[in-house]
Amino acid sequence: MVATSLKEICERAMSVGTNIDLSDCPYGETTGPCSFINRPTKYYFFLAGLVRLEGLIYILEIGTNHGGSIMSISKGLQKDDTSRSRLVTVDIINKNKEGFRRYPHIKRIEGNSLDEGVARRVVGSFDKGIDLLYIDSVHEYKHTRNNINIYAGKLNPRYVVLDDIRQCDGMRKLWSELKEEFKDNAFDASDVTIRKGAGFGVIRWVEHSKDMRRTVSNY
Ligand SMILES: C[S@@+](CC[C@H](N)C(=O)[O-])C[C@H]1O[C@@H](n2cnc3c(N)ncnc32)[C@H](O)[C@@H]1O
Repeated sequence: MVATSLKEICERAMSVGTNIDLSDCPYGETTGPCSFINRPTKYYFFLAGLVRLEGLIYILEIGTNHGGSIMSISKGLQKDDTSRSRLVTVDIINKNKEGFRRYPHIKRIEGNSLDEGVARRVVGSFDKGIDLLYIDSVHEYKHTRNNINIYAGKLNPRYVVLDDIRQCDGMRKLWSELKEEFKDNAFDASDVTIRKGAGFGVIRWVEHSKDMRRTVSNY
């Protein structure tokens, strides 16, 4: 059987996601020219589609903001998966408490994801390796690399998704290092997700360390 390429998976995920109703998952506050975006962004459809297509249920997001992306991820869960899902999102701030009331199954952790105590709480939220690690906090080399080292190292995700891989020299450098390491298991999905400017990268992480998925012991 011919293995499905990561590019094909990403294209299918976007197509599946486009048919998921995310109309009540707005992006929220931004630092850009528009201070509040009252609609889902394009990559939300990709995230929801990837979750639906691949049947992902154990998911960690670094960088919650208003909650639009983790809520979109929740909308992507396959039928009947909500009760057995584990969705965790971390941020230094706790916005949109009202909106999150509709998603009681999403666990929010407030704090700096690079702080040891926070990392211990996050890792302890899962009882086995995770399906998706989505990193979207400070788009700088060191910050993102440290998050990868901590959370991919401890939680051995099937997929790692990075936002803003084209945003600055540091993120471009990080992506080129990951591409070098993961080869065909790292796909620049910026075009597919209609995020050509900022960039969007997808890594099939577990392929790299096949059969390494294991029960997560204490952090
Ligand atoms: C770009 S926004 C996240 C957007 C969100 N993922 C979405 O797609 O809707 C980045 C978020 O990262 C958070 N953040 C910044 N530094 C952080 C840190 N050290 N630990 C956790 N979150 C952090 C910010 O507070 C901000 O809400």
